[in-house]
Amino acid sequence: MDPDRNIVLTGFMGTGKSTVGRLVAERLGRPFMDTDEEIVRRTGMQIQEIFQQQGEQNFRHIERRLCRFIAAQRGYVVSTGGGMLIDESNREVMLNSSLVICLNAADDEIMTRVKADKTERPLLKGDWRALLEKRRPIYSTIPCQIDTSGKTPEQVADEVIGLWETVSV
Ligand code: S3P
Repeated sequence: MDPDRNIVLTGFMGTGKSTVGRLVAERLGRPFMDTDEEIVRRTGMQIQEIFQQQGEQNFRHIERRLCRFIAAQRGYVVSTGGGMLIDESNREVMLNSSLVICLNAADDEIMTRVKADKTERPLLKGDWRALLEKRRPIYSTIPCQIDTSGKTPEQVADEVIGLWETVSV
């Protein structure tokens, strides 16, 4: 596998994608992109404002365009918003261009982590457990999986780098 492929982290909200992605990028000396931050930068709007003022559908449209932009890059470590790779065509585009790793965690740990974090997440205002149940079978189709339950971000970053080293040889 091309060692300069992007490393793309996916998984449900609160699985540690952004924290771990930053650590991995730092350790590998690669540029880092968080897709939500990139959307905020490009649109000048917060994610919550996009949902409120333009609707989720428009947010997903912006995400789809960003997904294709990322797939055309090399060498990045990318933390995706938890819904980006739920879309089948986004998943296909990323799996074909990048090393995609899905982070997962136990439900209670997800809740503890998102409560500790101040990020406004519009989809956590609804029935997030139902959303997680609906998405689990889709996340589980991603070949590379890491269970982050009970692990520190540093330990998860080690596992991500280990997986990348394994597939890069
Ligand atoms: C979403 C996850 C969020 C953000 C948006 C929608 C989702 O990102 O993209 O609120 O659909 O799961 P995080 O996974 O970084 O919280």
